[in-house]
Amino acid sequence: MTSRYRVEYALKSHRRDEFIEWIKGLLAAPFVLHAGPSTLIRAGDESRNQAEARRRYAEIFFDVERLVEQQIYLQGLGDESQGRLKHLVPSIGRFFTKLPLERAFYVQDEKRSISARRLVSPSFNDIRLILNTAQTMSLVGGREPLKLVTFDGDVTLYEDGMSLTPENPIVERLLFLLQNNIYVGIVTAAGYSEISGEKYEVRLKGLIDAVNDSEILTQTQKESLLVMGGESNFLFRFDSSTGHLKWIDPQEWTLPEIAHWSEEDIQEVLNIGQAVLENEKNKLNLPATILRKERGVGIIPLPGKKICRESLEEIVLTAQRKLETSAVGKKIHFCAFNGGADVWVDIGDKRLGVLSLQKYLNDINGFQTLHVGDQFASVGANDFKARLAACTVWIASPAETVDIIDELLAYLIEANMYSRVRKVSVIGDV
Ligand code: IMP
Ligand code: MG
Repeated sequence: MTSRYRVEYALKSHRRDEFIEWIKGLLAAPFVLHAGPSTLIRAGDESRNQAEARRRYAEIFFDVERLVEQQIYLQGLGDESQGRLKHLVPSIGRFFTKLPLERAFYVQDEKRSISARRLVSPSFNDIRLILNTAQTMSLVGGREPLKLVTFDGDVTLYEDGMSLTPENPIVERLLFLLQNNIYVGIVTAAGYSEISGEKYEVRLKGLIDAVNDSEILTQTQKESLLVMGGESNFLFRFDSSTGHLKWIDPQEWTLPEIAHWSEEDIQEVLNIGQAVLENEKNKLNLPATILRKERGVGIIPLPGKKICRESLEEIVLTAQRKLETSAVGKKIHFCAFNGGADVWVDIGDKRLGVLSLQKYLNDINGFQTLHVGDQFASVGANDFKARLAACTVWIASPAETVDIIDELLAYLIEANMYSRVRKVSVIGDV
């Protein structure tokens, strides 16, 4: 039984995604009215109920798909505040692509049997996965195809705090992306300032070795692997002549909006962050230590100890509030986030990280970029900001990352097949 405490906790606005909650509300009506009784059913009733629920869920996704299209049209006119979707879900952001939600619903319904359920209504996770499927579908086959896929590290590519080992099933998927001439960027909060890139190589060893050893990838494809560390602070690129990551001079990729940040202001943000972390450590009596880096400051538990979820949330919300109300916090972009076991205040954020990569790779657009991450709550999460720079999918584990990349690759193959069929039929017509 869900405790009242847990229900209230989940109701906290920073943990909710308004768009998903709103869709969930829309689907609740057909669930209540048409999913049908679970007992005393006659032959055929079960299938009929399922077909009816399926049809009505699909209709809702089709209608939401239309609202997204209208929102995109108004974005183009610079009039997005007039969108019906914006009125219904005020926190909705900008869309980079249309979302084929009806088709995505059918795909996920086959996998998750959503419309077959009688007692459990369409859930947050059902809708999150339908949105992910729709987003990947929309990124292939268009006139401006996908060019860059960026991945968060912890929880997305590997378990929290672990490394990317050779047997991790994501490795071969990343090689497939490279083979399809798609850039692969790892955009992680983990911030290691050494220009040797050695620490990133250690954490990504399984992938670096696989790229090195590949006899299929061309030199250009191998050099399409990049690492953006410390949110948006340190850029490395795979160098096929050495087989190692190569540090890229910030002058080659620093965005104009960051270029004027002063070192003094950066250190001031970190000083405020550090003071909050130290204060919270004492106030909450935590078995933890503070770690200050060049571009970040974190509170991490002592070996063998844990900081409970409630304390992590308290710290991150306090740091966020303190910094956003400070004068320097208005000048420098920062990211305060709960890493699951620790809390960090970093300079920069993943919007800047993804934008810097796009700029460095000759101005790739947001609608040609996909960011895969696990942290999309509106406060205290660090992948959330990437939504401002790229299309995103929200995964909950490394296994889900594998699933969504498999889907993406399947849609890519499908799209290539269709374009070949189209070409053949055009030539045939001539
Ligand atoms: P991500 O999920 O790849 O963005 O990595 C987040 C995790 O990296 C955090 O939870 C930390 O445990 C770890 N980490 C290591 N160094 C840093 C840093 O400088 N800033 C933020 N997180 C860091
Ligand atoms: Mg993560």
